Amino acid sequence: MAFPVTRLRRLRRTAELRNLVSETRLTPDSFVYPMFVCPGEGVRKEVRSMPGVFNLSVDEAVKEAKEVHSLGVPSIILFGLPDRKDEVATGAWADDGIVQQATRAIKREVPGLIVMGDVCLCEYMSHGHCGIVKAAPQSLGAAVAALPAATAQYEIVNDASLELLARTAVSLTRAGIDVIAPSDMMDGRVAAIRKALDEAGFINTPILSYAAKFASGFYGPFREAADSAPQFGDRRSYQMDGANIREAMREIAADVEEGADMIMVKPAMPYLDVIAAARERFDLPLAAYQVSGEYAMIEAAARNNWIDRERVMMESLVSIRRAGASIILTYYAKEAARLLG
Ligand code: PBG
Repeated sequence: MAFPVTRLRRLRRTAELRNLVSETRLTPDSFVYPMFVCPGEGVRKEVRSMPGVFNLSVDEAVKEAKEVHSLGVPSIILFGLPDRKDEVATGAWADDGIVQQATRAIKREVPGLIVMGDVCLCEYMSHGHCGIVKAAPQSLGAAVAALPAATAQYEIVNDASLELLARTAVSLTRAGIDVIAPSDMMDGRVAAIRKALDEAGFINTPILSYAAKFASGFYGPFREAADSAPQFGDRRSYQMDGANIREAMREIAADVEEGADMIMVKPAMPYLDVIAAARERFDLPLAAYQVSGEYAMIEAAARNNWIDRERVMMESLVSIRRAGASIILTYYAKEAARLLG
């Protein structure tokens, strides 16, 4: 054997040594726990494709929020399942909307918890798209549903959607939301929301923009949880193409310029390179969303005893952190916090 040999294994010999030299540390205070709020009372309905994740009525959401907070997780992000959907997403911006109600209740009972509000229209639109649709699907007929998105005769109208998004942000903030998180991917929405918040006097409400959000198959279980699947076509005309990292940097730069206070890459694990590039290039706090499909894959494999659930959960979170995200939105927030003690 040729000497000297580089003895990297010296520092791997014991758990104590490995811990001492660990380059990446997970702490619960970087987690954001996503929650789905629905109408009713005493509702706690498990999402079929997301074991351990529930649709919660406001009273149950308050209980859950208390638990999250007591585990040392500082923040939640709310998604809403409205009782009615329409073509202008009334449920998103109505002051008595489901997320507005939940926010008021949670902020009253758990004031120290940071409550983020996802700003999007898809959950509240009858057609399930994140913006206003120019030709209503009903008038287009069933044939449109069968067409590939590129040829379908409809358009998600950008600028008209901004007004609804801004209205949603103001209404949520009025209800007590601490951080506004737009996830719609319309161009110019950060500027439109910033302007509307400022004009309403909410100059201190930060915006966490889903800046590089990719059109992803990994959102499947979420769409079941939030009942937000598009009824025709797909989201590829507004969410990003997964092939593009340079374009992702342009998306983030645009949101920073428009006034975002924090930025996000989503999904997380399939886009760790995007997280790393964003960390290099931008100085804002950087979040990553470990999305529903990432969670569902781990859960499904673990149920088959094909992987060690806790181990893979922690490894996935460490990898996101190592790539450069300082904030992690994850359905594992509670459980990981428990393990991290
Ligand atoms: C709303 C929104 C989605 C997610 C967060 N906000 C779904 C989508 O864009 O279709 C996905 C989150 C997840 O998969 O966990 N636009």
